[in-house]
Amino acid sequence: MLASTTAAARPPFLKGRPLLGVLPEFKNNAPDFLLDTQRKHGDLVHFKLGPQKMYEVSHPDWIRDILVTNQSNFTKSRMLERAKVLLGEGLLTSEGQFHTRQRRLVQPAFHRERLAGYAASMVECAVHTRDQWRDGESYDMMREMNRLTLAIVAKTLFSADVSSEADEIGAALTEVLGLFETVLMPFSEWLEKLPLPSVRRFEKARDTLDRIIYGIITERRKNPRDTGDLLSMLLVAQDEGSGMDDKQVRDEALTLFLAGHETTANALTWTWYLLSENPDAEQKMHEEIARVLGDRLPTFDDLPELKYVEMVFAESMRLFPPAWSIGRKNIKPYPIGDYEIPAGSILLMSPFVVHRDPRWFPQPDKFDPNRFAPEAVAARPKFSYFPFGGGTRVCIGERFAWMEGVLLLATLAQRWRVRHTPGHKVEKRALITLRPKFGMQCSVEKR
Ligand code: HEM
Repeated sequence: MLASTTAAARPPFLKGRPLLGVLPEFKNNAPDFLLDTQRKHGDLVHFKLGPQKMYEVSHPDWIRDILVTNQSNFTKSRMLERAKVLLGEGLLTSEGQFHTRQRRLVQPAFHRERLAGYAASMVECAVHTRDQWRDGESYDMMREMNRLTLAIVAKTLFSADVSSEADEIGAALTEVLGLFETVLMPFSEWLEKLPLPSVRRFEKARDTLDRIIYGIITERRKNPRDTGDLLSMLLVAQDEGSGMDDKQVRDEALTLFLAGHETTANALTWTWYLLSENPDAEQKMHEEIARVLGDRLPTFDDLPELKYVEMVFAESMRLFPPAWSIGRKNIKPYPIGDYEIPAGSILLMSPFVVHRDPRWFPQPDKFDPNRFAPEAVAARPKFSYFPFGGGTRVCIGERFAWMEGVLLLATLAQRWRVRHTPGHKVEKRALITLRPKFGMQCSVEKR
């Protein structure tokens, strides 16, 4: 498939099919396609998805330069542009100075003191889940984890006193998300204008969600006080005297709601699967939980002690990074090594690919949490592991997610051992996030 390259510095080019380029292979299984491409052709490979010029970039130093050092040369890619139909101008989708201002306004919601407050809600929700499980019963862990992280984000965003609304939001959001994929499809700009049932259902669910969120915002504006949740931070956030209007608060709240639950749910689902396949690591994790906590529930202050749990979560996101690829569009020509990438290309950096590179992770398919011992981490280039991206657009919820991952694993594993059901098929499905295609059927055993 590799077309011959000329001496005039051009990276390897995958020719693909007329008009389509490598779109069929990419659509079929993008993470494995990208992994295979990097292994065969190296750290910079060019291909086309339809008319769009793409460059797969897989060296950690080049990735650092794109995400951090030279980040002002880039904008986000088209998929996120399309996500504006749902998320408006929230943090994930906005650009430039507007994004910088919003980031400054939202950031305090993720400060240490605030995070400590969210920890208790996380554990409380996890206890609710673990009390509902029954010994020997079988569950789809993906569904369980989705419900749990949704409950957590609802609680930390809108606080417990509006939990009935939080449930309603959860239901509307699930409906919206189910249909969101259609909206992100190629040519969806045109599809959106047609009276298709899926598009209409999407718009209806989005309107329901808006009605509830605007309702909560109006109520809170009438009685402005800091209730300790994310929403109250958004409402009180001020920047040189000017705060956010209702539409902006809505966009940020919905963005956090969306970005803040499915990613973590996926990471946890893959973690249960990997622990089930690797009983030695599971045993070690159980020992740490018993040593640090005994029978009591974990708290924010236990986090520094739950090191092995954190390493398990890190290793799981190495193998199955929920954000499996990060894209940037270059606004002007951009040099990489000996090459010059033409303006308007999309540079694709895939944590899934880089995390499986044997230069940084020997025997990359092996699950080994010890790779995340501090000395091992220090010996690798920084961007050999980047599940949360980097630079000014680094995930704002990164610390929230680490805390949630560790607290949920500890609380649930304290009571339960999760066993993947033999014969249940595990395959990847990569859309915005990397999920198990057929869910994750598991049974739970009381410990
Ligand atoms: C394991 C869980 C998570 C993973 C793997 C993850 C991953 C990422 C990545 C890779 C980005 C950067 C995308 C890019 O540069 O194009 C990002 C951005 C973002 N994430 Fe997360 N995320 C997680 C959890 C969360 C949580 C819990 C929240 C909020 C509560 C959150 C909110 C956001 C927001 C708002 C952005 C946009 C930030 C900006 O552009 O300023 N994420 N996330």
